[in-house]
Amino acid sequence: MTDAPKADLHEGFRDPLRAGSAALTGFLDGVDRLPGVRAIHRAMRRSLGIRPGMRVLDAGCGIGLEVARLARRYPDARFTGLDKNPDLLDTARQRAVPSPPNLSWLHAALETSELEEGSYDAVRTERVLMYAPHPLFGELLDLLVRLVRPGGRLVLFELDYGATMLSAGRDDDALVRPLDDLLERALPQPLAGRKIPLELAARGMAEVAAVPYSFSVNEPVWRGIVHDTLLLALEREPGRHEELRSWLEAQAAGAHDSPFLAAFTGVLTTARRPDGA
Ligand SMILES: C[S@@+](CC[C@H](N)C(=O)[O-])C[C@H]1O[C@@H](n2cnc3c(N)ncnc32)[C@H](O)[C@@H]1O
Repeated sequence: MTDAPKADLHEGFRDPLRAGSAALTGFLDGVDRLPGVRAIHRAMRRSLGIRPGMRVLDAGCGIGLEVARLARRYPDARFTGLDKNPDLLDTARQRAVPSPPNLSWLHAALETSELEEGSYDAVRTERVLMYAPHPLFGELLDLLVRLVRPGGRLVLFELDYGATMLSAGRDDDALVRPLDDLLERALPQPLAGRKIPLELAARGMAEVAAVPYSFSVNEPVWRGIVHDTLLLALEREPGRHEELRSWLEAQAAGAHDSPFLAAFTGVLTTARRPDGA
């Protein structure tokens, strides 16, 4: 059995001091390459409706892969990538060389960023709000609504861990449910995806639309976000779950050849701040 890491990737994304940035960067690169995630990026791009002169914020941009692509694709719009993790943002800066003149970076936690109300024509988040426990989750939604100008758009893609599919192995249905639960408990806001549409409507946003997207993961991404997360969760409850540990070990041993390891589902929520709001 491999050694459990000291912090899982989720803990690293929540708290930059918990995990080395190499693991986080490698994981973000791996996720970015997944065909299902590329399809989500295309859908988000369409929803942003970027036109010349627009100011667009990517809140929680990580290593800035998508915001840098957007800046290159739309040279007449202005983009800001914001993230609270200084190491990830440094990587973003280094990757975006030569830096597009319409792209800037902001090292800040969203909640302390002191950005002015109505500063952006469009704001996107991707897998960020799921790291906000209560009451921060609601506070960040309040903030995002205020950041976008009246008439501007929010485009938020957040996962929903209540709709995750782990491979059940063969004849192991009873084991997969507790593993699903353990995985869900690793996140402060596991049902973010399904909650956001109603939360935005309750904040007076107009034209709220929600579309679920699922994508399957490959072996390296599975190892980072499923195997290592579960292994650590099991390590933290010694003496229990021996059956689950053996199952996980068997899955890991066959992971390279498995045609299906896991699929994640998220909800793409789009909304417009009403004119005059
Ligand atoms: C799973 S990563 C996703 C990164 C990027 N959006 C992507 O799709 O590749 C989550 C990112 O959100 C950032 N983050 C989490 N909470 C944040 C907050 N309150 N303010 C700013 N950034 C935050 C983390 O530092 C991390 O870079």
